[in-house]
Order: sequence, then C-alpha cells, then structure tokens
Amino acid sequence: MTAQEAREIIAQLSQELEYHNHRYYVEAAPEISDRAYDRRMEELQALEKTFPELAAPNSPTQRVGGAVTKEFPTVRHRFPMQSLSNTYSREELQEHLERIRKLVPEEMTFVCELKYDGAAISLHYQNGELQQALTRGDGSQGDDITPNVRTIPSLPLRLRGKGYPEEFFIRGEIFMPTAGFAQLNRQRMEAGQEPFANPRNATAGTLKLQDSAVVAGRPLDCFLYAVVAEDRPAEDHYQAVLAARNWGFKVPAPEKRYIEKAKNLDEIFAFIDHWEAQRHQLPFEIDGVVVKVNDYRQQERLGSTAKAPRWAIAYKFEAESAETVLESITYQVGRTGAVTPVANLQPVQLAGTTVKRATLHNADQIQRLDLREGDTVAVEKGGEIIPKVTGVNFGKREPQSAPFHFISQCPECGTPLQRPDGEAQHFCPNHPGCPPQIKGRLEHFVSRKAMDIDGLGSETIELLVDQDLIRNPADLYALRKEDLLPLERLAEKSAQNMLDGIAASKEVPFERFLFALGIRYVGETVAKKLARHFESLENLRQASVEELTNVSEIGERIAQSLRAFFEDQAQQAWLDKLVQAGVQTQVKKQAGASDKLAGKTLVVSGKFSRYSRTEIKALIEKHGGKNTGSVSKSTDYLLAGSDMGPKKREKATHLGVTIIDEDTFAEMIAE
Ligand code: IVH
Repeated sequence: MTAQEAREIIAQLSQELEYHNHRYYVEAAPEISDRAYDRRMEELQALEKTFPELAAPNSPTQRVGGAVTKEFPTVRHRFPMQSLSNTYSREELQEHLERIRKLVPEEMTFVCELKYDGAAISLHYQNGELQQALTRGDGSQGDDITPNVRTIPSLPLRLRGKGYPEEFFIRGEIFMPTAGFAQLNRQRMEAGQEPFANPRNATAGTLKLQDSAVVAGRPLDCFLYAVVAEDRPAEDHYQAVLAARNWGFKVPAPEKRYIEKAKNLDEIFAFIDHWEAQRHQLPFEIDGVVVKVNDYRQQERLGSTAKAPRWAIAYKFEAESAETVLESITYQVGRTGAVTPVANLQPVQLAGTTVKRATLHNADQIQRLDLREGDTVAVEKGGEIIPKVTGVNFGKREPQSAPFHFISQCPECGTPLQRPDGEAQHFCPNHPGCPPQIKGRLEHFVSRKAMDIDGLGSETIELLVDQDLIRNPADLYALRKEDLLPLERLAEKSAQNMLDGIAASKEVPFERFLFALGIRYVGETVAKKLARHFESLENLRQASVEELTNVSEIGERIAQSLRAFFEDQAQQAWLDKLVQAGVQTQVKKQAGASDKLAGKTLVVSGKFSRYSRTEIKALIEKHGGKNTGSVSKSTDYLLAGSDMGPKKREKATHLGVTIIDEDTFAEMIAE
C-alpha cells in the first residue's frame, strides 16, 4: 500500500468512526454493532501504526488515550472565563432580573438552562479541529488538559457540516453521569480505595490524572453551553447553541427541556419548578438552573461587574435533606480490614427513595458531628448514591444520651484495632484470622475481573471457610474432590465444576492475578500498570518504594501498601504457595520475542522482498524496538528498502544514522 492509498483509507475510516461515534454517544442511536465499530477501529489503528506520519492528533484512535502528562501547562484564556452570580432565593432572582430589565430599553428574552455539576471547560477549535482544552482555573488562566479531554467520547474532535466559524471557543461542563459514578465508586471501594464524595469530585480528580488511558476508562460526558467567538455564528445565545448541535456537539436538548426560552418570570419559574421536582430523574447531577439573557447585543449592553456578567444568574437548589432518628451505629469490616461505621436510621423518605442506612466514613466524622445513638439527625442525599448524615438536631437530644465511643477492638474477631498515622480509617490487623476479611479476600480473588473462577459463589466460600477447608487463596488450589463431596449442597457435578474452574484459573494473565491478590489500593488499573512495568511478581516483590513511585500514577500510598503486603510474613506464605500451584506470575511474552532491539529506534522506508512493511513493524516491536515515522537525531537505524526516497537517505547520512538493508535487519533479530 502506498502512503497516498493509506491516507485515503485513513480519512475514510476516520470519518466513518466519527460518524458512528456521534450516533452512539451523542444521539444514542447506533447504526452498527459494537463489533463492526471495533473492526474499523482496529483497521485504523493498524494503518496508523504502519504509517505513523499519517496518525493525526484528532484521529478517532486518540480517544483511547495513552499520552502521559507529568504537569499540565498553564495557558491564558483568550476570553476570560468569568464566574456566575448565584442565589438560593427566588426573590433575589426576581430582583436581579427586574434590575437588568430596566437597563435595556427593548423586550428581553431569557434562556433557562440546567446548572450542570461538574467541571467547566473551554475548548478551542480551528478549521473544525479541536486544538486545545483548558480548565477554568482562576478564570484568566487554566490548565491545558487536552489529552484527557480527547478521550471523552461524546466530544467531537473534528466537526461535521459547515457553518462553524473558522476559529472559535466553546464552553461547557464535563461531568460524570450518576450511574457511571456509582460503578466507579464500587470498583474503588472493592480495591480498598477511598470512594469519591460526589460526581463533581470524581470528574475533577479524573481530569487531573496524568495518564490519559486511565481517563479514557472513566465514564465522562460533556454538555456544551456557550459559543464564544470574535464573529459569532448567530444573533443570540439560543441559536448559537443549537447551531453547535449541527456541528456535532452534545448540547442541552430543547425536546427534553434541558434548555428553554422564557419570555417572562412566570415561564422562568415554571422551568425552575419542573426541574426542582424532576432533578433526581436526570441521569446526571445538577445543582440549580442558570438564567441567561438571550440576545447577544443585550448581553453586551449589560456587561459585567468585577466578578460576573450581569446577563446571567444561577438559581441554586438547596441540597435535599430529611430528619430522622439515628437508631444505632454498627460496623462493617471490609476485605482489607478497614472498619467503617454505619448509621442505622429510622426509615425516612428522601429524594424519592427510602433511606435506612447512611455511611459515617470514620471515627473523626462521628466526633466532628458529635453524633450519639438516639439523636435526631439530618440526612442528605444531593443526588448521591450513598446518603450521609450531615448534622444533629441538638434541640431534640435526649438528656440521658452519652457521647459515642468508637470501638477499640474488631467487632468480628476482637483484635485491637489500629489507626495508621495520617489516616482517618481504623483497621483490623488480623488479616489471616478475621472472618469477614478471609471471606472478602476469597470472594474478591475468585470474582469475574480477578481469577474468574466459575462455580464458587459467596455461599460456597462461606461454607468452605466455615468448614475450615480454606483460609486463603492458596488453599483453593489444594482442594480435592474428597474434601468437597461430604459437604451439604455440593453434588458431584458442582464439585467437579469448581475444581475445573480452579485449575483453569492458573492461566489467568498476571495482571489479573495481581489484582486478585486484593492488595489495598491495587485496583484493576493499577494492577495493569504494575504488571506492564515490572513484568513479573518477582520483580515487583523486589521493587523499592522509590522504584514503585517512579511508575506514572503510582503514588506513595500505593507503594507503601505494596511494600507492607510483600513484607507481611503471613501473606507471603500463601503467596508462595500460589506461585507453587502454578498461577501466572509473569507477563506472557510472544513466542520468539526478544529484547535484541531494546532501546533502539528504527525508521522503515521503501519496499522489501522478504517481509511486508506491516510484518517488519511487528518484528521491530516483538524484539523490543521502537518504530517511528521520520528520521531524526534519536533514530538509531534507517531500514532502507528499494525505492526509498533520496531525501531520507540524505537526512540519515547527515545526522549520522546507520542505514541498514533487510538482510542486516534479519541477522540482527535472528536467534
Ligand atoms: S454559563 C459567564 N451555563 O457554573 C457565565 N455555566 O458557578 C458562564 N455551569 O463555572 C457560565 N451549568 O462551570 C453556564 N448551563 C450553564 C452551566 C454553567 C453549569 C457552571 C460553570 C461555571 C459555574 C459557575
């Protein structure tokens, strides 16, 4: 394939992929199957690998991420990002609107919008291509987080249609839908990580991650709500937003009443009433409504105060709260030994659901609020999945109530609890003997994303633990059919299934085995990173805190947790047994792979007789080398085929790059 042919196919595939991406993520109306989409994506990836010089920064392949940014550059906003005046009172809203109405002689139309609770973003487009994405920062300068923003699937990297200004900025809110947020937090808690307090924090935390591949795995979405340009594409804000919809942006939908024009206060209040009642039916969180003057000339006329424009104001909703009685405080012990206090409440209706329990996070929180059993407390659920106790109604406190004392011993096994320096959480250190830890660890070990052992549900694990047949993951591999058959409820066939599942799990890749170990803070993503970097359990076991923190996204906390795990005698005993049982403790190398080209950068050019270009590139990678598109100072070899252009040869000679032919290459990688 010539470069010209490749260029055409790449353009065609990119266009198709962007189209189907838009159908799926913006219009929620896919036309092709996921499989068909993936096939096109793989084809494009392969082509871009072969012709790296044709891989554009806004190619659909860039959405999977991969770029690692150590520090995001700070960039000045061309148009400052002002803040918004806000109020919780309808009277104040009314006063504000009446005030500005007096400043403009003619009729005034308003636009009502939802106030999305996420992170503000400013996107710069030129000739229909995304150039840069900046956070709000302090309003005059923000952080350039373009690689992370590129991974958001509903955001167009290239615009469709015509009619967009040659250069413009568009602003909006990046947010995490409630369902995705809940799932992310579940995964984090399973990994012993602190859950995010709310979708807004989860969004902000995600956008600041250094590795865009991790960002790509987080469920971010984006609504665009303002076009900013020197020459505007419309007379008013409403038209501009709807025009942006035709360019491929996900904008608030009028048909869902996410955006609505209003001629007067009554219509504005009708919009507010609707959303104050319906906000929890939305798949994302809002914290109010924004009212804007529609006409751009009127906006200009109104101008801004020192802080915020006069033409817009936010009406914020009060967080929803209910009062109920705190009946008792109990404790939960997780698989990592973390002890979490739980508030058991008199059932109460809140934001459309009955709330019976609320998390209390840790001992500090109980102390801060001075919570006591029997207190009447305020419970809030700002749309968040887990309700929380936010305060005590001291007026209703029973005179005989006593201050609450956090337990000092594990509620499950009686071991004295520990609280590591600088941490808010209490822990039960009896990892090998505390029943919920034993069961939790085993349940995690066999779970689908870990060792994926069929036929071993939580009930069976409970049974096996209670019968003293298993205490740690290694014991699973020592189970025999004779051990299982005497057990109640376990027929011959189920026993065999279970043993087959255990045997099959020995082939599970190293990264999943590492995740299965249930080391605190080592979730799926971290496990993948560690596996890729250290390649074997042995290397990882030897790694010092410093070597660990040198890996991107691996912080001090994760490093310390890994060291603690590998230095714990009891855990090492069963880990050793697991290794002996034959689980995968190394990243599997491709057959015939080597590191003969490790650290070497090669440029491939021209035609070859022995191999196709794709094969050559695959071979370079297989032997640990790197393939790049053009000759530079850092190139080690130029692999020259027939009809390589004279320019490349000249450049290589000039830079002192070694030129080799395909026979030399074959010798270099030979056994
Ligand atoms: S307009 C000059 N519209 O609210 C006015 N902002 O509290 C620019 N926000 O930083 C903002 N939804 O992140 C506007 N429909 C909406 C919004 C919205 C959420 C956020 C935005 C801003 C913050 C101010």
